[in-house]
Amino acid sequence: MLFFLISKGIEMKNKKTVITYGTYDMLHVGHMNLLKRAKALGDYLIVGVTDENYDRSRGKLNVVESTKKRVKAIEALDFVDKVIVETHKNQKAEDMVKYDVDIFAIGDDWKGYFDYLNEYTHVEYLPRTEGISSTKLRKENFDTIKMGLVGLGKDTQAFADESQFVSNVKVNRIYAKDFLAVKSFTKDNELIKYGHDNYDEFLDTPIDAVYIDTQLSEHYIYIKKALLAGKHVLCENPIALEKDELKELLSLAKKEKKLLLSAVKTAFLPAFNQLFKELDTGVIGDVKEVRATRTSLYKEKHYSDSFIKQGATNILSSYTSLLVNKVLGKPKSITFFPQEEDGYDINNLIVTKHKNGALGIANVAVGMKSEGDAVISGTKGYIYIPAPWWLTKKFEVRFEDTHKTLVFNYEFEGCGLRYMIAEFTSLIQRGKNKSKMLTPSDIVGINRVLLEYNDSKKPKKKKEK
Ligand code: CTP
Repeated sequence: MLFFLISKGIEMKNKKTVITYGTYDMLHVGHMNLLKRAKALGDYLIVGVTDENYDRSRGKLNVVESTKKRVKAIEALDFVDKVIVETHKNQKAEDMVKYDVDIFAIGDDWKGYFDYLNEYTHVEYLPRTEGISSTKLRKENFDTIKMGLVGLGKDTQAFADESQFVSNVKVNRIYAKDFLAVKSFTKDNELIKYGHDNYDEFLDTPIDAVYIDTQLSEHYIYIKKALLAGKHVLCENPIALEKDELKELLSLAKKEKKLLLSAVKTAFLPAFNQLFKELDTGVIGDVKEVRATRTSLYKEKHYSDSFIKQGATNILSSYTSLLVNKVLGKPKSITFFPQEEDGYDINNLIVTKHKNGALGIANVAVGMKSEGDAVISGTKGYIYIPAPWWLTKKFEVRFEDTHKTLVFNYEFEGCGLRYMIAEFTSLIQRGKNKSKMLTPSDIVGINRVLLEYNDSKKPKKKKEK
């Protein structure tokens, strides 16, 4: 027995473990060559496939295949012995120790970049196959999406600027009602060269999709016309201010086979998506309560009085509802505690009751400032998202024993719009009418609360005697 263990030990020591990492989107011959070269360096090949949230957080926004699909493709290769998923920045060094790696191999397009790993293992740069890459395949297989902007909102220029970081989209056209404003916006604009003050004419141009950022009450009609003109729509939320209108627009998008997405950028951020992956593992037990606050002073000049008078619930509750709804699902009841001035709500505490008695506690306010954090409380622990939670970069999984705290950091680039633009255009390219990050039922969910509030404010019809 002892002899067996010793000889087994020698055998284990003699086995050379090689590890390599990559995205492996649209698996191609360059990947295959690299993986075979890596395997030839040793006996046991581990392949780390980069997770979509990690890829997106480091600026790789155009990957078309899901992590699951890419993992499956690598697992199907008979010369690959183990597949792992790479989810965070320092994982490579951790893996070298964890798997007792002898050789770290990677294509020579990374030459020098991973020299720091020599501290843990031997680093080998292998020749890259010329003339092929996932980027090239994506370009050859998918058309660039042409987008036009509707309205001159606060995010219009930022949207155009951020679109430059998304490789599959071109944004160069705008429509707004005000002819002079459009003219002055496009005059020396390096990106948005074409301006329109006639919506039908604008829709008649060869654009595939529109981004709408106008007064909230105008969303419905602009969306409807765009869908009927065969355009995909990304629109600031709320999509509509009436229940019937929202229903109508969602079924129209379905009928026209077009993508209609709410521009709630939080839903597309890498950290926000990672949070749900952690939650799904049951790490905090059964969720009993979700609390989220979103307030803004809207002091900047570009916010007019009429903007703020749309009310805190209409302007901001999409964000709090997104979190509450995604974690707890559809509410069984909604209670409002609004604080109103001049006929609109400056502050609203929205309490929702969900399955198994779980509570949603959302606070939204305009012209008043509070701590914009969020807490998801469970039977084993809680998740804390520091302010501003809706620009999710970091979250912590906390327990009664503070030593057990897990910290998740997912920095994002720019103002966060590029992740939403990338998801929107990538879905269009792949002919998909739904996003997993913001499903049609999420869209209904984020609008439910504000539609209910608007309904509750309408004068009640007197019952006939
Ligand atoms: N690779 C290679 N030859 C190619 C393309 C990739 O040897 N023509 C190697 C890379 O050097 C890396 C691994 O394959 O070690 C995974 O690369 P990945 O970034 O997933 O593939 P790319 O085709 O380079 O993807 P992209 O164009 O999105 O950067």
